Amino acid sequence: MTTREKVLDYLIQHKGIVVSGQELADQLSISRTSIWKAIKALQIEGYQIEATTNKGYLLTYEPDILSKTVLYSLLNEKPEILEVHSQVGSTNDEAKKLINEKSVNKGILLAEEQTKGRGRLGRQFYSPSQTGLYMSLIYKNNQQADAASITTAAAVAVCKAIETLTHNQPAIKWVNDIFLDGHKICGILTEGVINFETGTIDSIIVGIGINVKESNTVPKEFRSIIGSLYSNEETASITRNQLAAEIINQLDYIYQNLDSIDYLEEYRKRCFVLGQPVSFTDKQQDMHGVARSIDDEGGLVVELDDGEMKTLRYGEISIRLGSKEK
Ligand code: BTN
Repeated sequence: MTTREKVLDYLIQHKGIVVSGQELADQLSISRTSIWKAIKALQIEGYQIEATTNKGYLLTYEPDILSKTVLYSLLNEKPEILEVHSQVGSTNDEAKKLINEKSVNKGILLAEEQTKGRGRLGRQFYSPSQTGLYMSLIYKNNQQADAASITTAAAVAVCKAIETLTHNQPAIKWVNDIFLDGHKICGILTEGVINFETGTIDSIIVGIGINVKESNTVPKEFRSIIGSLYSNEETASITRNQLAAEIINQLDYIYQNLDSIDYLEEYRKRCFVLGQPVSFTDKQQDMHGVARSIDDEGGLVVELDDGEMKTLRYGEISIRLGSKEK
């Protein structure tokens, strides 16, 4: 940790308490001049730290900057690797590079901005600076979980985190898009890294992208579909560090208790496509039906117009609302 990180970490651990310069210097084994320089640097970054002569320092406001120190302090389980980048192509691609370089049990990568953010089905995921949360979680697949259950669990973790931290009630569009007020605010791209010797999935990368604040630069073609957790008129009541930490804590918990937690039931409760008329493409053929249920593997069971039941394991559906499709 740098001096700046150590000072910030100490102030976060002592939120609401005035910490003297001497205490910081003693506890962190750093000179008082270095402490003072670190405080100045943090203030320039946007951290509001009240400095009172003869008393000390009090952290009164944290800006919405992704911070490794802040995030680390909020995680229930500390990961082996935690990286916060200002800009990358794609955090999922960075995660793959990392796995190729070394064995990673648990890793977390975040970026303020992605220049080549990837979505499902080869699509682009628009990832502008500072308004979104773009992160990839690496899990060593010790329990040989399948990618479908992790994807389902991740959708539940994102919803639960938003529900815990805000007053919002997000909903899931099968398979893993999170919607709020009829607009997509989050997408999840789960990728498995295969061990070619055993043919099994060695590691799982869960890529989560959330539009936290409204971005004024969203390309025209996405504007009618994309929403955000907070609109331009609202002041965000949480920071992206808090949101990221809550999602990670929720997902860690589900992942470690995959067999005992009924995350599928949590998924079903929030899945707004059930009972809706849907359409999808199967072997280049347009199919129509009504979404009936989510099976125990996370598949979507659709009753086709001719009465046949069809279970979708992957892909994408559209909801038929008259002529309007989501
Ligand atoms: C989708 O909506 O189709 C899935 C979008 C997933 C986006 C996230 S952002 C973090 C991670 N890095 C990527 O390039 N994609 C995922």
